[in-house]
Amino acid sequence: TIVGYEREKEDEQIVAEIMERRFFPDHVAYKTWEGFHFAGHEIRITEATDCYGAVVWPSALVLCYFLETHSKQCNLVDKNVIEIGAGTGLVSIVASLLGAFVTATDLPELLGNLEYNILQNTKQKCKHQPCVKELSWGIDLEKNFPRSSCHFDYIMAADVVYYHPFLDELLLTFDHLCKNDTVILWAMKFRLENENRFVDRFQTLFDLEMISNFPSLNIALYKAMRKDRMKARPSKLKV
Ligand SMILES: C[S@@+](CC[C@H](N)C(=O)[O-])C[C@H]1O[C@@H](n2cnc3c(N)ncnc32)[C@H](O)[C@@H]1O
Repeated sequence: TIVGYEREKEDEQIVAEIMERRFFPDHVAYKTWEGFHFAGHEIRITEATDCYGAVVWPSALVLCYFLETHSKQCNLVDKNVIEIGAGTGLVSIVASLLGAFVTATDLPELLGNLEYNILQNTKQKCKHQPCVKELSWGIDLEKNFPRSSCHFDYIMAADVVYYHPFLDELLLTFDHLCKNDTVILWAMKFRLENENRFVDRFQTLFDLEMISNFPSLNIALYKAMRKDRMKARPSKLKV
């Protein structure tokens, strides 16, 4: 159909535009970093090849592209943002460059490289210096991120659902960090059945809206908010 054809063209064109934001160094024999253009800056990311979190995944580019191209509707200036499974830090860097207070989190073994990339790309370039913190999904959440004092306007996550044994803990983490007015921005790469099942489970707690979809990459970008947030409002108003 014409609609189908136009969607396919749109997918092709925007995906090409997203992927053009990535560039590689000209004069080195082997790759030590990868470059990206977002939020008016050249961002250099140092990668490692020994684990999942050490390369930049295409979902991160999709999320960064959204943040940059929707910076009016989704204004990050002075907003509190946490990224879970931040990996090499591209999303956290772009959110910082767009004016947010960012907490970038991942497993302990990822934090050295994450901190390095974040520092290199945000020092003296952004309104609020981002911080890097350990957050292993489901572990010590109340101790490290107490509900009473942590409030995030946005939770960001790129490519955090794949074949790993921590899907319950991941859901628990979203649940712990998400307040009634928190917006989750989640870029999801679909690979296996597992992912579909996680989306169903996620929807038992959160209202989910697909805000973009790139079939050629198998990546969808979702916005989500707590399902029970409306119920909480009247009692708040009474106070
Ligand atoms: C596929 S990578 C995505 C990295 C980055 N968001 C990106 O898009 O480039 C998945 C990330 O989730 C992190 N991760 C996996 N299991 C985790 C866990 N149990 N707790 C915290 N982070 C975890 C990995 O360390 C890795 O950084």
